[in-house]
Amino acid sequence: MCGIVGAVAQRNITPILVEGLKRLEYRGYDSCGVALHVNGKLERARSTARVAELEKQIAKENLSGFTGIAHTRWATHGAPASHNAHPHFSRDRIALVHNGIIENHDELRDELKTLGYVFESQTDTEVIAHLVDHLYSGDLFETVQLATKRLVGAFAIAVFSRDEPHRVVGARRGSPLIVGVGDGENFLASDALALAGTTDQIIYLEEGDVVDLQLQRVWIVDENGKPVEREVKTVHAHTGAVELGPYRHYMQKEIFEQPRAIADTLEGIASITPEIFGDKAYGIFKKVDSVLILACGTSYYSGMTAKYWIEAFAGVTCNVEIASEYRYRDSVPNPNSLVVTISQSGETADTLAALRHAQAQGMRQTLTICNAATSAMVRECELAYITRAGVEVGVASTKAFTTQLTGLFLLTLALAQVKGRLSDEQEAAQLKAMRHLPSAISAVLALEPQIIAWAEAFARKENALFLGRGLHYPIALEGALKLKEISYIHAEAYPAGELKHGPLALVTEEMPVVTVAPNDPMIEKLKSNMQEVRARGGELYVFADADSRITSGEGVHVIRLPEHYGQLSPILHVVPLQLLAYHTALARGTDVDKPRNLAKSVTVE
Ligand code: M6R
Repeated sequence: MCGIVGAVAQRNITPILVEGLKRLEYRGYDSCGVALHVNGKLERARSTARVAELEKQIAKENLSGFTGIAHTRWATHGAPASHNAHPHFSRDRIALVHNGIIENHDELRDELKTLGYVFESQTDTEVIAHLVDHLYSGDLFETVQLATKRLVGAFAIAVFSRDEPHRVVGARRGSPLIVGVGDGENFLASDALALAGTTDQIIYLEEGDVVDLQLQRVWIVDENGKPVEREVKTVHAHTGAVELGPYRHYMQKEIFEQPRAIADTLEGIASITPEIFGDKAYGIFKKVDSVLILACGTSYYSGMTAKYWIEAFAGVTCNVEIASEYRYRDSVPNPNSLVVTISQSGETADTLAALRHAQAQGMRQTLTICNAATSAMVRECELAYITRAGVEVGVASTKAFTTQLTGLFLLTLALAQVKGRLSDEQEAAQLKAMRHLPSAISAVLALEPQIIAWAEAFARKENALFLGRGLHYPIALEGALKLKEISYIHAEAYPAGELKHGPLALVTEEMPVVTVAPNDPMIEKLKSNMQEVRARGGELYVFADADSRITSGEGVHVIRLPEHYGQLSPILHVVPLQLLAYHTALARGTDVDKPRNLAKSVTVE
């Protein structure tokens, strides 16, 4: 993943670089660093702590400069150690930062070693720094164009040379990079958010572009070296939303923001119409005979939930695929399928690659449910629904999930309408239920004190099972993902009917079994599955609808949600699972918002 910021200006740019890094920490936080052009020399500061620590180090060392680059890292090649942190230098002449993975780094390293280059890190990035130095002709822009031709893999890079004090060169292939256009100063970043407050004039570089940034010049060539004009867009990236306010963690804040996020996502939806998804939606929905959903992680689970809805309401076959699997599998393309990508960030590398793979196979009708309006996903899909969760900072996705579900339910209803399967009465009833979601979620959030009591017990466990059936099986999966991701407790989820086919062997009195128990038509079957757990001594922690008539007893702990919420019930039932994960992690003392080994946005394969 990794985040990049670069600047050429006539003022000290360290505050801009550091602020940019803070905003890019969602892309990785294993280590960070800055490099500056200082009095004809390259200077740098690197840290394996968070950007706030790097900021102190920079202040202590009194580092300042007019030209520089900065980086926050998610380790791929080489441990999160200081010597692997970017920027990497070559012969104290070239400084370079990189996001992505260079696949032919071994071959290039061998070649550069024979030329006398000495490697200080285990990274693939240092290879690019030495390659640029080796090819350097005195014109960095030309050199980077030559160097990138030798690279196999995905990258965004920013590089500057000791010998060209007012120039930063950037290049992208497979990883995002934007240019921020200023007045007598110019910038590079992985995301417009990094430059919020500095400039809102943004150019989204395209695949293969190389850009030359100088004080008064932004010059771009495409992958063939041909000069190109790229549109400058005004982008108002959010910054205020990253304030923590009265909450202890962003995850907690984001869980509690869900009523607002869903209300915002539904704002302006007076009735169900395909045009909610774009002008061409009616024609596309009319034509398609199936839906293919592509996503990763939590977004994949929202897709799994949508499969139940789409097949039941719209009568349209819906397949859901993990993007990282789909992109490499020999599948049978259906040109009449609607390809739906789901992504909070809109920049997830596997999901983008899966989308492009589907398009390359002739599947041209594409739609994204995405939380980032200016992301690659939105730019590359024909139709879009932008969720209004607001900036999600916590690595564990919460409000993005429930707003995705909201968007997917709207999609279900719109498809059902176009397929002639949604009456006016049904439309009115479902819209009414959707509008009531914010207050229904608020009622669930009020259960927090009871969940905190459970979390104390969970914090002492090392394993947990999550059970759900039907529409709530993906919710059980999401609950297990939340718990493992931030508390590091091993958690697995199963459709409850599958228990006796293997996982029941794990159940002892040591195994907490979290059960998602809505009062839906599967409730009696689910109760039988719960008996199977109790008979083996397993301890049940049940989130039951008020009307489900499941009561607490020996080895059965019950928290009651409001009455059953019909087809929208998954949106309510995931909330207590988020809170359980959050409070368990809190009790275990983990870094809730930045759990180990993870990053918010997964922009590498
Ligand atoms: O930005 P995306 O929705 O495409 O991200 C997909 C996953 O990386 C993401 O949902 C991940 O699983 C979360 N950390 C889960 O909480």
